[in-house]
Amino acid sequence: MDDASTLIDVKEYPDTEVQKNRVLTLEEWREKWVDGKIGFHQEQGHQLLKKHLDTFLKGKNVLRVFFPLCGKAVEMKWFADRGHCVVGVEISELGIREFFTEQNLSYSEEPIMEIPGAKVFKSSSGNISLYCCNLFDLPRVNIGKFDRIWDRGALVAVNPGDRKCYTDIMLSLTRKGFRYLLAVLSYDPTKHPAQTVEERRNGWP
Ligand SMILES: C[S@@+](CC[C@H](N)C(=O)[O-])C[C@H]1O[C@@H](n2cnc3c(N)ncnc32)[C@H](O)[C@@H]1O
Repeated sequence: MDDASTLIDVKEYPDTEVQKNRVLTLEEWREKWVDGKIGFHQEQGHQLLKKHLDTFLKGKNVLRVFFPLCGKAVEMKWFADRGHCVVGVEISELGIREFFTEQNLSYSEEPIMEIPGAKVFKSSSGNISLYCCNLFDLPRVNIGKFDRIWDRGALVAVNPGDRKCYTDIMLSLTRKGFRYLLAVLSYDPTKHPAQTVEERRNGWP
């Protein structure tokens, strides 16, 4: 995908009024992790990614793979185990720590100088780096360009008003020959009631 307009057409559904209240704050995301309300997490990983992984990798070695809004996605380990370099961003420090603990990976942490209060967690093997910060602050840090982006539960979790900024950041992180794989549901919001903030707090669609 080479063009931002093919990434997502934010004008696809003019009645985005229906969705405008679907807003979660960063604090609410952090609370979800603390309360264990992480129905979005898939312990076995995404089965379609598993099925199409070789096609996605296109036989290449040592790719740089970006996971926006990564949570503790087990797929990060799949790529690292194949020798690729994984970078993720996640606002919940708890989620990041759970990733390393559950995957039996030792890690170190250090502050991100460009973003006060933020940290980066790195696997001891050196090929997984998870930035604990707001995705929208990430452009302040030079994390390089990527060959692959796996976007599951990321674009869809961004508040509708932030989608343009989100896609701009994603495209700024890509390099020649990149592949961007997006797992998403397309639906007409006028035919389905929007979730209330309370419903979204309690789980995942
Ligand atoms: C729906 S979950 C998806 C997690 C992961 N991609 C997966 O497939 O399991 C969205 C994640 O993004 C995190 N998040 C939400 N907004 C964020 C932001 N602006 N910056 C960084 N992380 C964010 C949440 O804490 C949550 O873990």
